[in-house]
Parts: sequence; C-alpha cells; structure tokens
Amino acid sequence: MKSFSVAIDGPAGAGKSTVARKVAERLGLTYVDTGAMYRAITWKVLREQVDPSDEVAVTRLAQQAKIDIHPTDIWVDGVRVTEEIRSPEVTARVSAVARIPGVREALVEKQRAIAQTTGVVMDGRDIGTYVLPDADVKVFLTASIEERARRRHLEMMRRGFSADLEELKEAIRRRDEADTTREHAPLRKADDAVEIDTTSHSINDVVERILELCRTKVGGG
Ligand code: DC
Repeated sequence: MKSFSVAIDGPAGAGKSTVARKVAERLGLTYVDTGAMYRAITWKVLREQVDPSDEVAVTRLAQQAKIDIHPTDIWVDGVRVTEEIRSPEVTARVSAVARIPGVREALVEKQRAIAQTTGVVMDGRDIGTYVLPDADVKVFLTASIEERARRRHLEMMRRGFSADLEELKEAIRRRDEADTTREHAPLRKADDAVEIDTTSHSINDVVERILELCRTKVGGG
C-alpha cells in the first residue's frame, strides 16, 4: 500500500517548513524539506566554484551529489551543511540553480524515492503539482509579502545573519518572480490543493487545520 503523503507548497516565507515539520511530528511521518535539497546543491556549486549558469556542469554535480536529509540536518557528500545552506550567498543563487531541468530531475527522483519508502510531509514549490501528484493531502500556503519578509528577517536574526527588511522584501519579490515564471515545474497551486493564507493565523491554527484535512482523508471524508 502507498504510504500516506502530505504535500505543502507555497512561496518563500509562507511558513511551510515550520508548519510541515510540526504536522510531520504530530502524524509520525518523515519531514522532507525539498528547498533544503536545492540549497544543498547550490552550496556545492559555490564551494566547487562551478559557474551557476553552466547547466551541464551543475546538472552533473546534482546527479553525483549524495544528499542525506534528516528532519533537523542535511549532509552533502558527508559534509554537514545545515547552517551553511541558509546563508545569504546560497539564498541569492538558489533560484538560478533550481531552474535547471537536469537539477530538478535529479532531485525529484530522490524526493519520490523517499516518499516511496516512508510516509512523508514534503514541502516545496512543485510537490502537489509534480513530485507527488497523488499526495493524500495537498496544501498551498500563502502570506502577504510584508509578513513573509518580516518572518525571514526574524529568522535571519535568529541565525546570526544581519538583514535589512526592505532588501529582504525585494529579494522575496525577485525569488517569487523567478520561481513562478520558470519553465520547468513553476510554483503553482495544484487544482486539488487547499489554499491557506497564514498572514494572520498562528502556526498552531494552520497545523490544526492541516491535521483536520488529514483526518478527513483517513476517515474517507
Ligand atoms: O523554500 P526555500 O526558500 O528553502 O527554497 C529554496 C529555493 O529552492 C527557492 O528559490 C525555490 C526552490 N525550490 C524549488 O524550486 N522547488 C522545490 N520543490 C523547493 C524549492
């Protein structure tokens, strides 16, 4: 029998990872942060000084990289990169790496393989539309750009990076634009996804709402 899967998509800063992690904990499922996988490849591209616009070289690197993803840590080829993948340098270049079809193919294959072996809560941009089109529950999280920038700002401060709120807002706008207009698997709400605007809702409210959707699904409703 296919394992239970929950797909959570949405733009940067909508609260996906916090919410997905909690839903996974409550349901005893594996949390998979697919953005972290694109970030890990980007980290390796920077580290090996590969030109991010060289699609052939970046694709080869993505195909060869061994990514180990755990609920709280991520390794690339045996190096723990949990903090490094959140750096401003990686954040600034990840969209360029994520738009390369060969990179997406390599990572989607890994994502589907994980979902085949275990129940997952997977968050990203194309999970409900492309990676797991048969996910049991699909959620599309949104929030206003101001609120998303405010959350990113808080998160960066917590991680010890300095950040300017207006610059963050602009960076989020640019990343949204890049993620929604790219040719291959752009950010888009799946037709059968439930949209939840998190701007004025607490994390717990959103988590409860998703758990309710999961219960309804299991109950056959
Ligand atoms: O969620 P995040 O900010 O960590 O994602 C990093 C980047 O990776 C983001 O610019 C979009 C891209 N991404 C993607 O293209 N597809 C996914 N499934 C997840 C992330």
